[in-house]
Amino acid sequence: MSAQLPACQLLERYYGQAAHLMPVAPPADAWLMEHSSAMVSGDAALRQQWVANGKLAASPFDSPFSRQAGQVVLFWPKAHQLGVWWLEWLCHVLPENTPVDIVGEHQGGIKRVPKVLGELGMRCDKLDNARRCSLFSTRTVPMAIPDNAWKSFEALTLTLVSHPGVFGHGKVDEGTTLLLETLEGGLPKTPLKVLDMGCGDGIISAWLGNRGHLITAVDVSAFAVEACRRTLSANQISGRVLESDVYTALEGERFDLIVSNPPFHQERDITYGPSKRLIEGASDHLTARGQLIMVANAFLPYPELLERSFSCFETLADNRRFRVYRGQL
Ligand SMILES: C[S@@+](CC[C@H](N)C(=O)[O-])C[C@H]1O[C@@H](n2cnc3c(N)ncnc32)[C@H](O)[C@@H]1O
Repeated sequence: MSAQLPACQLLERYYGQAAHLMPVAPPADAWLMEHSSAMVSGDAALRQQWVANGKLAASPFDSPFSRQAGQVVLFWPKAHQLGVWWLEWLCHVLPENTPVDIVGEHQGGIKRVPKVLGELGMRCDKLDNARRCSLFSTRTVPMAIPDNAWKSFEALTLTLVSHPGVFGHGKVDEGTTLLLETLEGGLPKTPLKVLDMGCGDGIISAWLGNRGHLITAVDVSAFAVEACRRTLSANQISGRVLESDVYTALEGERFDLIVSNPPFHQERDITYGPSKRLIEGASDHLTARGQLIMVANAFLPYPELLERSFSCFETLADNRRFRVYRGQL
């Protein structure tokens, strides 16, 4: 089996078939999984895939591995500040002077890595360069646990807490704003059992929790889950926040309302997978007469899916760029 993604092809070319790696924040690539026994990622769905293949997989918010399992390779993320956070985290959890290699695509910002390493007082050696990707090598230095990446900001009379890599990071999305404006006045005063699917920094959960509704929030990203927990706590709102790949952590649970600004990007690609599962699985997670209310870019092909999955479907708002849809069982 050969690597499929350019960054993994560079690793295959550099380390060869004897590679034994411990990827950090990796993409999904079968060659990479075959050549690793353990990984660390904020993506719960990817971790589940690795565990299903007999590998160890940890979230950076779990206690770190007691033992290093292979050459550590950090995949440089698109969000530059998240890359810096991962470097600081690695320095914190690994013994001083542990070799760490860093790989990434040129269009994903990997060329900024030597400067970042210099600023953190870490060495930098260039190992290889191909497939429009580069591979650098460094060694860990002593560092405190990175906590200064968390950022608080005020919006819609709420305090929101975010982290690099979490959707929107530091600003409110236009689609989310339209969704909340549409919900205002349209919801009953009696508390509803609400599921916020793909909660990000928790803006929708906090907004609904502030109005007395009972909140369950889920996200596939460990960073988003932690951000949402911090947002609810900053606004003195109680709620349950879980890591979940769409409904995986919600087996057998039903809600009066599912609300979402669902994802349609994975890295740089467009994907409807999670949104399709959100819509098609809603009937198994809604109470009788329960509703799904979601916002989406106007060009996304959700009306057809919603019409197929709900007996009653309508567009509640349309500002040309975004639409708010409601499906009712
Ligand atoms: C468009 S953002 C919306 C975030 C937040 N609700 C808001 O309105 O600002 C979509 C969110 O879905 C999450 N997500 C992506 N894939 C997911 C999946 N398979 N299961 C659950 N959440 C997912 C992303 O991490 C992201 O936080």
